[in-house]
Amino acid sequence: MAVERTFSIVKPDAVAANNIGEIYSRFENNGLRIVAAKMMQLTKEKAEGFYAEHSERGFFNDLISFMTSGPVMVQVLEGEGAVMKNRDLMGATNPKDAAPGTIRADFATSIDENAAHGSDSAESAAREIAYFFSDAEICDRIR
Ligand code: TYD
Ligand code: MG
Repeated sequence: MAVERTFSIVKPDAVAANNIGEIYSRFENNGLRIVAAKMMQLTKEKAEGFYAEHSERGFFNDLISFMTSGPVMVQVLEGEGAVMKNRDLMGATNPKDAAPGTIRADFATSIDENAAHGSDSAESAAREIAYFFSDAEICDRIR
């Protein structure tokens, strides 16, 4: 399988609960390398742009309120099959449906406060990485 990159967010609930390190450990213990990372407070505009595909959904305003309710960690993960691996590590969108041992099963409380974001395809990953990081912020010479 090819080495690829994906985009990840530790959402405000998980940052507030002091679970950044626990979630990063899941990545590192499962073959994903953090090649860029920063903490930031999303503005309403930044969050709305990120989730533009959901702008017509009934949950959109609550989603934006939640995503701007406190700082997030945004990161680029690199590894073999990184997009699907990160989705597998996160588990289902609704933590009630997430498999035991996944990030959302262990750290999320509800579908609208679900601890983590991960790109759903290689195309989404490329767009989302570029939305948050310049090329110069991504460290591709770690090894
Ligand atoms: P979605 O892209 O469907 O899920 P995922 O994060 O697993 O890719 O939805 C984006 C976010 O929107 C989701 O993480 C939480 C929120 N959301 C709700 O609050 N209610 C919902 O019914 C859905 C589908 C999503
Ligand atoms: Mg999604």
